[in-house]
Order: sequence, then C-alpha cells, then structure tokens
Amino acid sequence: MFVIHLECSACGRQHESSRQQNLCLSCGKPLFAIVDLDRARRTLTRETLNTREKSLWRYREVLPLPGNVEPVSLGEGGTPLLRAEKFGDDNNLWIKDESVNPTQSFKARGMSVAVSMAKHLGATKLAVPSAGNAGGALAAYAARAGLEAHVFMPRDTPRANIIECRELGAHVTLIDGLITDCGAEIARRKAKEGWFDMSTLKEPYRVEGKKTLGYELAEQCDWQLPDVILYPTGGGTGLIGMWKAFDEMQALGWIGTKRPRMFAVQASGCAPIVRAFDAGEKDAAEYPDAHTIASGLRVPKAIGDFLILKILGQSNGGVIAVADEEMIRFARAVGSSEGLFVCPEGAACFAAFKSLRGAGKIASGERAIIFNTGSGIKYLDCYQDQ
Ligand SMILES: Cc1ncc(COP(=O)(O)O)c(C=O)c1O
Ligand SMILES: [Zn+2]
Repeated sequence: MFVIHLECSACGRQHESSRQQNLCLSCGKPLFAIVDLDRARRTLTRETLNTREKSLWRYREVLPLPGNVEPVSLGEGGTPLLRAEKFGDDNNLWIKDESVNPTQSFKARGMSVAVSMAKHLGATKLAVPSAGNAGGALAAYAARAGLEAHVFMPRDTPRANIIECRELGAHVTLIDGLITDCGAEIARRKAKEGWFDMSTLKEPYRVEGKKTLGYELAEQCDWQLPDVILYPTGGGTGLIGMWKAFDEMQALGWIGTKRPRMFAVQASGCAPIVRAFDAGEKDAAEYPDAHTIASGLRVPKAIGDFLILKILGQSNGGVIAVADEEMIRFARAVGSSEGLFVCPEGAACFAAFKSLRGAGKIASGERAIIFNTGSGIKYLDCYQDQ
C-alpha cells in the first residue's frame, strides 16, 4: 500500500484508508491521504520517470491505489505545457493545456484516481454533484469501471456536459439550483440509495489525482517551480492538490523550498474566495446569487475554502475576479493568437494575467503558468450568443 492512513486537514484525526471514507468523523472537514514517501522513494526517482508511461499513473508510488491493482484509466494526464508565444508578448507565460484529457477537462485526473479507489474499496454506485465537467468525467470512468454513475447538475449546465453524461450511460438529474443544491440532494438520498458520495474533497482521492498537476508541472519545468500560478478556482481541488504535491516533492528531495505565488481566479458573479481573502477571513461565506457563464467557477461555497485561503496566504499569492464579458473577449484573443479554444474558466486566467501584470503583481520575465482546465467545445452555448 502506498497510503499509510487518511488524516483530517483541519483537526488531524487519523482514519483508516482500507475502507471507504468521506469527511472527518470528528469535525466534518476533508481528509488527506498520507503517502508513504520513504517507501515511494525506493522505486520512484526523477530519473526513473523518463522511462515511464505518459499518463498520470507514471507517479504510481505517490498515488493511493495499491501497486497490484489495475487503475481505471483512459490515458489521463501527460498534458502539454505550451509557451504563450503571441499572447504572452515578451512575458514568460506558459499554458498547461488540460483540454486534451479524456472528456476534455482536468476533471479526468481526479476521477481516474477516485473511481479506481472507489472500485477497489467495493463501491458500486457513485454519485456526484457537478458543474458539468466532473459529471462527464465520472460518467466516463464509471462506465469504464463497470460501476453506476449518478450525476446531479444544475439545469443551466452547458448542454454538452448533460448530453455527454447521458451518452456515457450515467443517470442524470437536473436540479433547479446551484451545485451546492445538487450536493445537498445527494446527501439527502445517498444512504437509502447506496451511493458513494464522490463530491470533490468530500472523498479523499480526487485531490490525489489533481495533485499530479503539480508533479507534472515540476517535471516539465525541469524541477524549478514557476514564479506564479493562475488557477481558475471553484472548489479549489487542483490548487490544494498542487500544494500537497509540492510538499511531497520537497520531502522526496526533488525540489527545494521555493513555492510559486498562487493566485485564485474567480468570476465576478461568484467570488467567495476573493471576498474572503480581501477581508482577511479564514473561511469563505456562501456567495449570494451566484452567476457566471464559467460553470466550473459557479461554486458559492467550497468545503476546502479554509485550505485555499491558507495556501494563497502562505504562498504570498492573491485573488482576482473576472467579469463574464472579459472571459468571452479573452477566449477569442487566446484562440486567435495561440490556436487554443479555451473554456471560460481558462480564459478568465488570461484576463487575470493581463490585469496582474498591468498592476505590477507579476513582474516582467517571471515565469507564470495558466491552467486551461477544459475545452471551449463544451461551452458552445456560452460562446455562440456573443
Ligand atoms: C473547466 C473547469 N475549470 C475549473 C474548475 C474549478 O476547479 P476546482 O474545483 O479544482 O477549483 C472546474 C470545476 O468544475 C471546471 O470544470
Ligand atoms: Zn477533523
């Protein structure tokens, strides 16, 4: 086993990793997998990575699935890090293009690992509240694993996500409300229906899949972490996962103490983390009347809010909110300059980069990374009307 135990990210209480777990049994906060790094370093070195498969399973020894169990995989991870040649002008700006993952978004990373673990631990029916992309990813990996997927999405989720889930064999329920309402519906019904709750950070392994963003980035940057990371933040799982990866890689002796300044990019119509960070709060209050075309950022309350805020502070990073019109404008600018049809969440990071650079919060020549977390193809209904 590569995981020693699960540990609460708030109170530190330990939980067994040999059975299905959701939140901390004492305080209800997210659980983290504590990886046996001493054991991992026996076979996993920076050099051995050169000989391994391209998918995220190349980091096998720091992932939770036991070594003798076959992962549920569709070839996720191993995405390109592209220089933003024209958009970035003379800046050292790079794009981690997650749109080439299975189901066209970075949600594939978390779901490959979480579905692998859920299957390994005996779950048969998986349920998830989704802004769209997580649902598609769960549907795909559950189909591959031979498990049932139950996806709850807001009624105004992009059409492509809804159709994709259905075509992949998931049971889809559309809810008149937000992703938090979808989560509440699952919580209400899961015991009776026998569903395992796959909500992000309410089970311990989607964040393990997402942490491979950090491993891959370090590897692609030749083990020198960048100066700045711009991350489109909904639930914040990728940001939290990368931070965990940085600590693990330091413990493995792969990187030093330097960390990027982490910036959470949100939508002006749903910016709970921006508001809380600016007010110096430790947790983020639910954002009222949340609305934005960037469905992945339409998360009015994130269970990992306190973790996101801690990381932004520790990294000396910050927050920025972007209006929907700017996302649309920047999507086209990036498309026509870089040849990438980005999702609105990714476009928001380009807009954020321009403003942070203009405000002097990113200096000339600093290496900055933008995560294009998904493909614009999933958002035709957002783009067609503009
Ligand atoms: C395309 C896209 N970008 C960003 C996010 C936000 O991701 P996270 O929950 O890691 O903050 C989502 C979540 O649904 C998404 O679908
Ligand atoms: Zn706890």
